[in-house]
Amino acid sequence: MVQDRKKVIGAVNTITYGLYVITSIGNENKVNGQISNTVFQITSVPLRIALGINKKNYTYELIKESGVFAINILKQSQLSMIPIFGLKSGRDINKFENIKYHTEITNSPIFDDILSWMDCRVIKDMTIDCGTHSLFIADVLDGSIVSVEEPLTYKYYRENRTK
Ligand SMILES: Cc1cc2nc3c(=O)[nH]c(=O)nc-3n(C[C@H](O)[C@H](O)[C@H](O)COP(=O)(O)O)c2cc1C
Repeated sequence: MVQDRKKVIGAVNTITYGLYVITSIGNENKVNGQISNTVFQITSVPLRIALGINKKNYTYELIKESGVFAINILKQSQLSMIPIFGLKSGRDINKFENIKYHTEITNSPIFDDILSWMDCRVIKDMTIDCGTHSLFIADVLDGSIVSVEEPLTYKYYRENRTK
């Protein structure tokens, strides 16, 4: 058990993160996306990443259905994406109403206006149950840089959020 939770959380919050919209496609072509900071590369050869997702999220449901997702890496100028994709559920609203996107290998939505993206497939038997969240280990199948700008970080979000 954690000794002094408030003190330790302060230390945990000094871990640096980027912010991403994780998208997926489920049965009957349902699409959705959510904000996640829990994305990191694990291996270079083969190119593999890990993604942490809350099991209650609609995006989790779609990833479980299809076994695929895309990582959309946000630009610093895209702070306004956080309330839409990070504070509401796709079970209640259509988050893609004003988003232009296309698809590649996995059919998961890739934003046209984004810093960069990666298309990923979850590896069989490599999903770890962490309690409230699951950790998906996935192969990176494709990806590209779209624009050269500053990435959006969790620190920038904390310091500049209005909601
Ligand atoms: C800054 C920020 C970081 C977040 N990081 C994560 C994360 O790493 N994993 C996760 O499951 N949810 C994370 N969330 C919460 C989800 O984005 C949020 O619950 C979302 O509404 C789920 O949407 P959905 O039900 O449409 O999938 C984060 C939210 C914010 C605002």
